[in-house]
Amino acid sequence: MRIFIGVAWPYANGPLHLGHVAGCYLPCDIFARFHRMSGSEVLMVSGSDQHGTPITVTAKSEGVEPEVIAERYHQLNTRILNDLGVTFDLFFQTHHPNHAEVAQDVFLRLKENGHVYEKELDALYCVACDQFLPDRYVEGECPHCGYGDARGDQCDNCGRPLNPDELIDPRCKLCGATPEIRRTSHFFLALSGFQDRLEEWVKDKDHWRPNTMGFTRNWLNEGIRDRAITRDLKWGIEVPLEGYETKRIYVWFEAVIGYLSTAKEWARRSGDEEAWKRFWQDPECRHYYFLAKDNIPFHTIIWPAELMGYGGLNLPYDVPANEYLSFRGLQFSKSRGHVIYVDDFLEQFSVDALRYYLSVNMPERKDTDFTWEDFVAKNNNELVGTLGNFINRTLTFAVANFNGIPPVAAPPTGDDDAMLAAIEKAYELTASALTECRFKDGMREVMALAQEGNRYLMVREPWKLVKTDMDEASTVVHTACRVVKALNYLMAPFLPHSADRLYAMMGGEGSIHEDTWSDGLVDLETAAMEKPEILFNVIDLEEVLDNWDGGGEPKEPEEEKEEKEMISMDYLNRLDLRVAEILSVEKHPDADKLYVMKVDIGGEERQIVAGMKPYYQREDMVGKKIIVVANLKPAKLRGVKSEGMLLAAQKDGVVSMLMPDPSKEIKSGAEIH
Ligand code: MF3
Ligand code: ZN
Repeated sequence: MRIFIGVAWPYANGPLHLGHVAGCYLPCDIFARFHRMSGSEVLMVSGSDQHGTPITVTAKSEGVEPEVIAERYHQLNTRILNDLGVTFDLFFQTHHPNHAEVAQDVFLRLKENGHVYEKELDALYCVACDQFLPDRYVEGECPHCGYGDARGDQCDNCGRPLNPDELIDPRCKLCGATPEIRRTSHFFLALSGFQDRLEEWVKDKDHWRPNTMGFTRNWLNEGIRDRAITRDLKWGIEVPLEGYETKRIYVWFEAVIGYLSTAKEWARRSGDEEAWKRFWQDPECRHYYFLAKDNIPFHTIIWPAELMGYGGLNLPYDVPANEYLSFRGLQFSKSRGHVIYVDDFLEQFSVDALRYYLSVNMPERKDTDFTWEDFVAKNNNELVGTLGNFINRTLTFAVANFNGIPPVAAPPTGDDDAMLAAIEKAYELTASALTECRFKDGMREVMALAQEGNRYLMVREPWKLVKTDMDEASTVVHTACRVVKALNYLMAPFLPHSADRLYAMMGGEGSIHEDTWSDGLVDLETAAMEKPEILFNVIDLEEVLDNWDGGGEPKEPEEEKEEKEMISMDYLNRLDLRVAEILSVEKHPDADKLYVMKVDIGGEERQIVAGMKPYYQREDMVGKKIIVVANLKPAKLRGVKSEGMLLAAQKDGVVSMLMPDPSKEIKSGAEIH
C-alpha cells in the first residue's frame, strides 16, 4: 500500500504544548510507524504555518518583524517534534519561496478554471493605524457570552466563531480606536460551485469519525458560501497578479497547499523531482489528514474544493480529527499561561511516558483531560506496573535461570497454547485498531496482552517449576519471552524509543522500526541475553506537584528559591511607596553618575539623589511620574541631602525607572499597596 499522511501545520507563533501532541502529532506518528512496519510506502508531511495574524500579532507584541517570530518557532517546533519522535519525511514551512510558488500556481490555475473571482466588499478599517484590520486585529464584546476581549474571528471564552462585524463595541487591537467600515476588493474562492461535488464525494465516507462527518455535513447542509481568499496585509504570500501589490493570499487558502508543496519539496530533496506524483496522482494512494476538530472544515471542504478545482490530484480518504485535550478542566491557553509546553515536559519526563499517557487518554471521540495525578497514576500503574513489570520480570527470570531465552523443552500445555493464541489475537486486534485510526483501542490491546502475560506467569509459576521440572519451566519462560517479543513489535508505533531499547536487549540489530510488523509473531531462537535494563520509571507525584505550579509552568529550581528570604505582609506595609512627579533634575556637583532631583510627592517637595545619569537624559526625566520610597531615613550622598529613593529595574545593562500605568491619570502622592 502507498499512504500519504498530511498533518495540520502548527502556527509558528509559540512552542508546541501537550494539546497539540494529543490533537494530531502523536496519532499521525503512531499511524505512520505502524504502516511503515507493515510494509506500506508512507510519505508523512507537515510544516510551520508561518503567515497569518497569529504570527503578526505575536511579532507586534514583541516589537520585532514577523520573520523573526516565524523563524524562531519554526526552528523550535522542528526540534520539539524531533524530540517527540515524530517521523515526518519533511517538516516544511510556508514562508519559503518553493511553497509560495506552488501556492501561487494553485491560485492562478483555480482562477483560470473559473473558481476564483474578484469582488468588492465592506471591511473594518482603522483610520488611526491607516490599515484594514484582519479578523484577529479587532476585539470587542462577544455577542454570545458577553466576554469583553473576544477576537474578530473567535471568542476565546465560549469558543464560538465570529465575524468582526458581530462584535459589540469593536476596537482596533493595535491602537484601541473604533474602526470604521470601508470598501475594498478581494478575490473569492467560488466554493458554492463545489457543493454538489463535495456532497457526492462524502457519500461513501462511512469510515469517517462522527465529528469529522458531523462538522462537514453541517457545513454542507447550511450551503457552502464563497470565501475571500485575499487580505489587505503585508505579511503573507503575494497575489501573483499586477495591481495587487498591497494584498496577500489568505493564510488558510495557502497553508493547506503546503501538503502538496511539501511533497514536491520532499521529492526535490530526495533527488527524484517526480517522486511526489506517486503519492498525489496515483489514485491507489490513500490520503489521511490528522488534525484537531477546529480544523475539520478546512480539510473536508476547502482543501478538497481547491483540489477538485485544480484537477488531477488525490482527495482525502480519511480525516481522523481529534477532540481537545484540556488541562485540569480548562482549555490549554498560551495567553492565560494555562499550558504545559512539550519542551518543559520532556526535561523532566521521558518521551515514551508522554506518548503512553496521551495514547491511552487520547481525545478521540470526546474531550479528555490532563491532570498530573492521572498522568502519574497511569504511568506508575499501567506503563511501569503492567507493561514494564511483565517485560522486566520475564527477562530477569530468563537470564537468572537460563542465561537467556530457553528452548521449548517440555511439550506445551493448554495454558501455554492459550498464551500463544492470545498473542495472535492481540496482533489482530491491534492491527485493525491502528488501520482504522482507533489509537486508544490499539494501545489498550497492547496493554491487555501484557496483562495476559502477567496472569500467565501467575498461573504457571515458573519460579516453582524451576525447582521441580526444569523442562517445563523452560517451556513456560520461552512462551513468556515470545509474549515479550510480540509486545516489542506491538508497542513500537506508540513507544518507539523504549521499543528500540527492548529490541536491542532481545538481540535485535539496528532499529525495530526497520523491521517487519509481523515478525513479532515468529518464534524465538534460544539465545544468551544480558540482564535487562529497566524500560520505564516510577514517577513520584509529590515531587511532580512540588515542581510544577498550578498553571503548568515548571517552578524555578529549588536552590534559587531557598536563598530568597520570605517576608510577611507587615514588613511590606512598613514601606511608604508613593507616586511622585519629577519637577527638576540637576547634575550632582561632585559625582559622575548622580543626579539631584526635586520631586513632588503630593503637595510636598522632596530632594532625591539617584544614580540615573548613565541611563537617562535629564530632559527625559522631568515631568515623569515615578515611584519613590518616601519613608527612607534621609542621608547625604557625596555631600548632598537625599530624602527618599526612586525605584528602578535593572538587567543586562538596561536600567528602567518604574512608572505608573501611563494610560491612567494617577495623582502624585498616591500610595502604593
Ligand atoms: N495553523 C493552523 C492551526 O493551528 C492549522 C493549519 S493546517 C494547514 O489551526 F493545513 F492548513 F496548514
Ligand atoms: Zn488602530
